[in-house]
Amino acid sequence: MSFDHPVVVEPLPGPRLPAPVVQPTGVHETLADMQDSDTPPLADDTPIARAAQAAVTAMARVGDPLPRPAQTRVMVVANQKGGVGKTTTTVNLAASLALHGARVLVIDLDPQGNASTALGIDHHAEVPSIYDVLVEGKPLADVVQPVIDVEGLFCCPATIDLAGAEIELVSLVARESRLQRAIAAYEQPLDYILIDCPPSLGLLTVNAMVAGREVLIPIQCEYYALEGLGQLLRNVDLVRAHLNPDLHVSTILLTMYDARTRLASQVAEEVRNHFTSEVLRTSIPRSVRVSEAPSYGQTVLTYDPGSSGALSYLEAAREIALRNAEAEAVAAEAGYATGAATGVYAQQPRMIDQHSTMEGNR
Ligand SMILES: Nc1ncnc2c1ncn2[C@@H]1O[C@H](COP(=O)(O)OP(=O)(O)OP(=O)(O)O)[C@@H](O)[C@H]1O
Ligand SMILES: [Mg+2]
Repeated sequence: MSFDHPVVVEPLPGPRLPAPVVQPTGVHETLADMQDSDTPPLADDTPIARAAQAAVTAMARVGDPLPRPAQTRVMVVANQKGGVGKTTTTVNLAASLALHGARVLVIDLDPQGNASTALGIDHHAEVPSIYDVLVEGKPLADVVQPVIDVEGLFCCPATIDLAGAEIELVSLVARESRLQRAIAAYEQPLDYILIDCPPSLGLLTVNAMVAGREVLIPIQCEYYALEGLGQLLRNVDLVRAHLNPDLHVSTILLTMYDARTRLASQVAEEVRNHFTSEVLRTSIPRSVRVSEAPSYGQTVLTYDPGSSGALSYLEAAREIALRNAEAEAVAAEAGYATGAATGVYAQQPRMIDQHSTMEGNR
């Protein structure tokens, strides 16, 4: 078990988390502060002992079922900026949700095949993959594989063939909606489908945006974090206007947060100011264990379940599930049936205009 960085988590509504504790040092709250009030007092009241206790508490929640969405939530993990944590977020959130009892499919839509690697799924050139689904019209069911370490988690791998798909798709019928059609024809019951996009806004990402209702944007807490975000949001708007009226940005997750740097907290603050309701309270800390896990073909949830990275992803998953349950409850009360999280979030003013302004101000 390692405690490489404190887990940054802001107070989350819900019965299981106590009110945040203000640190005497003024630094961010850690999972150590999340001990339930009925947790027995610690024999050794040091930061490490508190962190250990918090890890035990958080791990005890694994297996606690989270509220399941009324219908499958298809979440597109996108940001055309490279290396911001899209793949890491996709696989670790997916594993976290599955560990909480959900049935989750990860679709690797990046020719790099990083999500397949991280889930321990073979993706050499001969393996049936998402390329066959998109270009050859193969059923999704023929290429999906179970992830060995995590019950309820499945992966549709990507092979290097996918690198040519952007060009091959151009001449195909319904080139933007091929993934959406494949998902619609997939009959296995699922709570979540998480689509790991490549770092571009080409036809592969458009296919993901046509297939999903929700966009999840991981934002790395560093100086250029917001650059290009306006373009991504404009693309979401375009797809919504022309191809998928349900599409919206439902979730923003701050990644690689280094609580020791002022820059990280400044970036986090700026993002939170502009996207008040979309940003998860939980941020993912920079953590060596998170970056090591893929080289063992594992998510950090199985590689080092007690690490700060694992605990943060578990907490982020919890937040994603609870927010949606709240949105569904509000929608049900308002008396109209919704498609999952769209109920509340889709009614919010569109953020793109605000963000364009923000970009213009930079
Ligand atoms: N919380 C974290 N702590 C430490 N390293 C991390 C963390 N999250 C991601 N990384 C590392 O940062 C690098 C980029 O992450 P990742 O591959 O998830 O980004 P990406 O957005 O999917 O990249 P690409 O655009 O190339 O697909 C990887 O080496 C990953 O291990
Ligand atoms: Mg990636």
